[in-house]
Amino acid sequence: MTVPIITLSDGVQIPQLGFGTFKIPQEDAERAVSEALRIGYRHIDTAAIYGNEVGVGAAIAASGLRRNEIFLTTKLWNDMHHYATARVAVETSLEKLGLDHIDLYLIHWPATLKYGDSYLEAWDALQEFKAEGLTRSIGVSNFNVAHLDAISGEIPSVNQVEIHPSLTQNELRAELANRSIVCEAWSPLGRGSDLSEPTIVRIAAELGRTPAQITIRWHLQLGNIVIPKSLTPARIAENLDVFNFELTTEQLDAITALDRDARTGSNPALADF
Ligand SMILES: NC(=O)c1ccc[n+]([C@@H]2O[C@H](COP(=O)([O-])OP(=O)(O)OC[C@H]3O[C@@H](n4cnc5c(N)ncnc54)[C@H](OP(=O)(O)O)[C@@H]3O)[C@@H](O)[C@H]2O)c1
Repeated sequence: MTVPIITLSDGVQIPQLGFGTFKIPQEDAERAVSEALRIGYRHIDTAAIYGNEVGVGAAIAASGLRRNEIFLTTKLWNDMHHYATARVAVETSLEKLGLDHIDLYLIHWPATLKYGDSYLEAWDALQEFKAEGLTRSIGVSNFNVAHLDAISGEIPSVNQVEIHPSLTQNELRAELANRSIVCEAWSPLGRGSDLSEPTIVRIAAELGRTPAQITIRWHLQLGNIVIPKSLTPARIAENLDVFNFELTTEQLDAITALDRDARTGSNPALADF
């Protein structure tokens, strides 16, 4: 089992498949992330707002892996965009994680309805943090094209956005590719809701795989970074066991055709938190 490595526009290398930790409470985070690292995940996605950075860091420390064998993403929360608060936020995340640097630090949401254009200042702050070595790479999350146009300086290495078969985001993905910004899919399984789509169930039966494996494979073959979350050890393993089969072009296209612009999370243009 070898997870493909994607080289970001800044030269930093990221495993294409990672482990998501949204809604994993602090008390479960060390166990879940430890299990993920034990079976071969090397890329962990967390965020300050998830409240589990201490548990994630404890799992990393207990893993016995060298720091450069693990790729860790965390995110700046919306009420910390201004320069001084962003610095407090990154230092707090590093302390909770028990790390001296992050691999990828993201602006979690542009959050313009509540915080105006403060995300512009956040992007300037992240560039300083990268220059100081607090993070190896910097990117954004939940940005639309207008947000990407508005920031200045370095190009984000990734944009982490909601993508799954019922929300394929074809136009945004094409635009990110034009800008050499790698697309990272959050809620890649549609939080489980896409797994009962008849087309996915049919392809899973044809290939003797599970619907989750088919969906993760679809992301990988589209070129998305993909970060499924599970608290269930069998599913954590199932979601990593996706490197010994391929979808045909017809199967990929049939899944992409499931798009109905159906979000499981907030629309970045309407997010008021
Ligand atoms: N940037 C952002 O704004 C943002 C927003 C949301 C998420 N994220 C990131 O993206 C990650 C993934 O998104 P997500 O957690 O929202 O959703 P997801 O990964 O699409 O789905 C997680 C759900 O699917 C279930 N599941 C996982 N593997 C399964 C399998 N093999 N078979 C059946 N069900 C399975 C999980 O159940 P169990 O846990 O019970 O097994 C859980 O209920 C997050 O954890 C987080 O790191 C980022």
